[in-house]
Amino acid sequence: MGTARLGINIDHVATVRNARGENYPSPLKAALLSQKYGADSITIHLREDRRHIVDQDLVEIRKKLKIPLNLEMAPTKQMLKIALKYKPAFVCVVPEKRKEITTEGGLNLKKNSNFLKKVIYELKRKKIRTSLFIEPSPKSVFNANKLGAECIEIHTGKICNLINKRKKYSKEFNKILNSVKYANNLGIEVHAGHGITFESAKILSKIKGIEEFNIGHFIIGESIFIGIKNCIKTFKKIIK
Ligand code: PXP
Repeated sequence: MGTARLGINIDHVATVRNARGENYPSPLKAALLSQKYGADSITIHLREDRRHIVDQDLVEIRKKLKIPLNLEMAPTKQMLKIALKYKPAFVCVVPEKRKEITTEGGLNLKKNSNFLKKVIYELKRKKIRTSLFIEPSPKSVFNANKLGAECIEIHTGKICNLINKRKKYSKEFNKILNSVKYANNLGIEVHAGHGITFESAKILSKIKGIEEFNIGHFIIGESIFIGIKNCIKTFKKIIK
């Protein structure tokens, strides 16, 4: 375990593009610039409703990107088919509700257990690194391990929200810390993501054992003011 890696989620470049129905700003350009400025991987979430990233983005980015592409996807037959067709280096399986503004929580590992097992098995067979997006609780880590997950991504939305609102976050911090320790003991690789800002990244990076941070919305927003290069460089310094 060394320096934590930084994955850049570029979904919201597509959000801005789609708001006007134009072909700019380009998610591919954002992916290639992020790669140039030190991103370790690029994340895109191909949602069922295609509200931001669309299939053509996946095709173009998959073709041109040199660093690993991390495809976030709901555990559905259609998405599994797409992942097996385009073979991104990484997949992160996430829950999806059509009406949510963003991914509100971790997967329900019990309800979806049979299909999740199949997804992990099929992707592993194609040598795609697969993680499950889960709540920060040892119970979720236990369930993810039972399903055969080699990686988990811990949903950091709650702690980031508390930090932003200047509320107490130590309880949530300890939940994450305990989940990371437990996962590491089981030999599971741990990632973290959702709602992370410069401030919350500083706090979360105190937890040793998180090997990858996946950050999107804040980076795309902050890039308006300081540029994507400065944003990436600052995050890399924080999490190293
Ligand atoms: N990780 C996962 C699994 C996610 O679903 C998301 C949001 O799409 C992120 C990370 C990035 O979250 P944010 O855009 O809030 O930084």
